[in-house]
Amino acid sequence: MTTLKQSENFIEHIHDENYGAKYNLQNLNHTTMIYVDGRPREQLNGVWNFTVDAYDSVLREGCYILDRTDVHGNRLPWDFAPDEGHDIVVPSCWNMVKPEYLYYEGSAWYSRWFTYFSENSEERVFLRVGAANYDTKVFLNQEFLGNHYGGSTPFFVEFTGTLQEKNLLQFCVNNDRTSDRVPMKNTDWFNYGGIYRDVELIRVPKDFIVDFRIYLVPNGNFNEIAVAITVSDETAQDEVSVRIPELGIDQSLKLETGKIKGALNAEPELWSPENPKLYDVEVSFREDRVSDRIGFRQISVEGTKVLLNGKPIFLRGVSVHEDDRCVGKVSDKADILRRFQHAKELGCNFMRLAHYPHHELAAKLADKVGLLLWEEVPVYWAIDFDKPTTYKDAENQLLELIKRDFNRASVIIWSVGNENADTDARLKFMSNLAQTAKQFDPSRLVSAACLVNREKAKIEDRLAEVLDIIGLNEYYGWYEPNYNDFIRLGENSNPDKPVVITETGAGALAGHHGPKTDMFTEEYMKNVYNKQIEVIRELDYVQGMSPWILYDFRSPRRCNRFQKGFNRKGLIADNKHTKKLAFYVLQKFYQEKAEKQ
Ligand code: GCU
Repeated sequence: MTTLKQSENFIEHIHDENYGAKYNLQNLNHTTMIYVDGRPREQLNGVWNFTVDAYDSVLREGCYILDRTDVHGNRLPWDFAPDEGHDIVVPSCWNMVKPEYLYYEGSAWYSRWFTYFSENSEERVFLRVGAANYDTKVFLNQEFLGNHYGGSTPFFVEFTGTLQEKNLLQFCVNNDRTSDRVPMKNTDWFNYGGIYRDVELIRVPKDFIVDFRIYLVPNGNFNEIAVAITVSDETAQDEVSVRIPELGIDQSLKLETGKIKGALNAEPELWSPENPKLYDVEVSFREDRVSDRIGFRQISVEGTKVLLNGKPIFLRGVSVHEDDRCVGKVSDKADILRRFQHAKELGCNFMRLAHYPHHELAAKLADKVGLLLWEEVPVYWAIDFDKPTTYKDAENQLLELIKRDFNRASVIIWSVGNENADTDARLKFMSNLAQTAKQFDPSRLVSAACLVNREKAKIEDRLAEVLDIIGLNEYYGWYEPNYNDFIRLGENSNPDKPVVITETGAGALAGHHGPKTDMFTEEYMKNVYNKQIEVIRELDYVQGMSPWILYDFRSPRRCNRFQKGFNRKGLIADNKHTKKLAFYVLQKFYQEKAEKQ
């Protein structure tokens, strides 16, 4: 039995509208991440107890503490039992679990018991949640341990020293759309809620490897590998060893105050989409061992060209959401491989994972199958650019993404946002994000999907100054009906760095045919792609494109007789099978581009 403190009584809570403050520490963030690749995981996926909590009754009353009594030992009534809901499978999106939950937005509670037996008295135990949308509060054995903000990046909680044999783990997940979150409340995708990636326990030795980053030094020589390692013992002066057997590397590096930045001399076979060569890398420190499969490549820009391993490359891409009409945002290996298979069929060497960090498996599989990736944080449309807490949230999501995918060769571009009006506040906010990405990761390019400068009919955005690549969303033939304006844009523009057309396209209902002048017919969409390619092929500063979008996807903003809750700009329908006529137009252009490469 848990007693309430003297000052609390059963009625007081209904007058406290600031009840959420003590549960919004945001203490689970990029600084509490640990290195996990190559480590054994104990899955906590499976059947949990679940209940929606539309009025936040559990947090208001504090009745995550079960069986409460007052200070005299009298049993208190409980209005809301967070662990007396119904079964739900984790990972999942609650919207897809019951028809009545489809549009539910608010708080929901997950509860499950798990047993823990220590394998050695000095081990440290961490919980890892792959992603939960959006604000996730963690309670272990009825004690609040902290919360994480952000709907698409992993977070960790250390359980060491607090675990019993039988443990009650509870999450309160809130997916409210608000004006100051990242993304804010208006987006063109569905606001799924819940724990939609894996939940795992990870045990590490007392002293362990907290962070391990490795990359080919981008100096054009392709013969130097940089490593940066941080260990848990901040006083450590002993050595870590890095082994890359296939390169004959078995190097000991001396730590200084628990960190080391070192260089390894080697001339690895370079990773590319055509030759996705990966090397086994092992790192050890005292009792700890981690391993990963790493590709070595260099991505850079030169004038208006994008260079992969020193050679110009045209990024033949397509954009894709994390969305499925049956399971929402849940991605698994089969779903990701299908995405990549369709992209390869299209002739892609590149994909834009829009508009938020996708499942970590996407970058791992792209490393293997050979696709270049654009990864993005959801600084989307009218973000509250003036609010410091919004910037902190956006920067944390960016750093969580970079830390998670740093060692993935396939990831070549960090995008700091999408389609934001060129205001002073946005310029400061997104320039700071771009600077953070560059400082933290010297091995990648930074971009953003910018808007056309409509006043000047020009590719011009003040943010471009701090970007390596200018992403450009343009919809001539759809939102901008006049193709001549696209031609004029090309004539007016003279960017000094590469441009990637990060979005273009048109909507069509698969199977709906008619004259190419009728919107939402496949013929209309096909004609837009033909006209777009006519202009794009003449713009020599355009070094890539990722048309919008591979598959139709769910969006509450899309309601007419053709869309019915789905954005229909997919080259393939939301059944992830039926190709539209425009698919073959883009495929033909990419075949032509590949032959010229
Ligand atoms: C915008 C936006 C997308 C949106 C698309 C559309 O460019 O970036 O998220 O889905 O246009 O209108 O279909």
